[in-house]
Amino acid sequence: MTKRSVVIGVGHYLPERVVPNSEFEASLDTSDEWIRSRSGIERRHFAAEGETTSDLATYAAQAALADAGLEPGDLDAIILATSTADLTFPSAATMVQARLEMTTGFAFDVQAVCAGFIYALSNANAMILSGQVKRVMVIGAETFSRIMDWTDRSTCVLFGDGAGALILEAQDGAGTAEDRGILAVDLNSDGRYKDLLYVDGGVSTGTSGYLRMQGNQVFRHAVEKLAKTAETALERAGLTPGDVDWIVPHQANIRIIRGTAKKMGLSMDKVVVTVQDHGNTSAASIPLALSVGKARGQIKQGDLVVTEAIGGGLAWGAVVLRW
Ligand code: ACO
Repeated sequence: MTKRSVVIGVGHYLPERVVPNSEFEASLDTSDEWIRSRSGIERRHFAAEGETTSDLATYAAQAALADAGLEPGDLDAIILATSTADLTFPSAATMVQARLEMTTGFAFDVQAVCAGFIYALSNANAMILSGQVKRVMVIGAETFSRIMDWTDRSTCVLFGDGAGALILEAQDGAGTAEDRGILAVDLNSDGRYKDLLYVDGGVSTGTSGYLRMQGNQVFRHAVEKLAKTAETALERAGLTPGDVDWIVPHQANIRIIRGTAKKMGLSMDKVVVTVQDHGNTSAASIPLALSVGKARGQIKQGDLVVTEAIGGGLAWGAVVLRW
């Protein structure tokens, strides 16, 4: 018998306000056509005034608990991937824990920007495999609208707010690639690229700062590194791209998503795409896409799913799991 981290619940939350590309045309030298053709984004959701990352995360967590038929007290831990926590501390995860009235277990944040959910899944899986926990809520939640420079057309049209959550449970598998659950993980970072994508504020400046990105440079790294990390994780699981039912990529840009699928020799009908409706929601994008993919009837129990993401750091990675 081999212990596996199996998905037993999934949910998401998107703020009410939907902002179409055309809304940027009034204040910026941009167009719906440019945003659509360069990024694939058509609209995104923005949090309401006063609505925070931990609010979005709490709603997604509640949806995942309902999907699993569990109560907060059934969880051993909450791991929340975010770069836009409400405050410098305490963690947004402990805020969610309080909102759920969960008084047992533990909660903490993971920060690896757009790759954050992959890093959080990896943490949760390691804790499950070591026997430290049995059930973990893994959340990705962001309010990137709070760190946008609204005068910078090269970034502010690309991002959105949202949250998604998965519940993982320790279950016994046979130890083969047919098992349900996480089958392999690959994580990478290379801090030499830290200036390609960063926020120019924080404790050192006394401000929360704005996102700065050399988009075309990040783009060049993305396709190559995402295809490689996905293939490495598949290889670790003893699988090949031909075994994949669904790629659930980080939703930053449709051209990166298409390029990565092509490099892996996979057709776009094996890719869950939500970037048109959500924009880039950073660490929330993969759990959002998993939840939407399941709700659409795309991802079904037993399907082999590969998730991959890259973001600031640069940090990137992939998780192979059987749903
Ligand atoms: N409207 C109109 N024109 C624009 C806009 C806009 N909103 N934004 C930029 N432009 C212009 C630029 O000024 C430039 O003009 P110039 O040629 O006169 O200088 C031109 O469009 C081309 O700009 P590029 O940046 O070269 O355009 P590109 O095709 O690379 O697309 C984009 C830009 C969409 C940002 C793309 O590079 C991208 O998606 N990059 C990767 C983003 C990503 O994956 N980030 C990682 C995750 S995010 C995270 O970790 C937080």
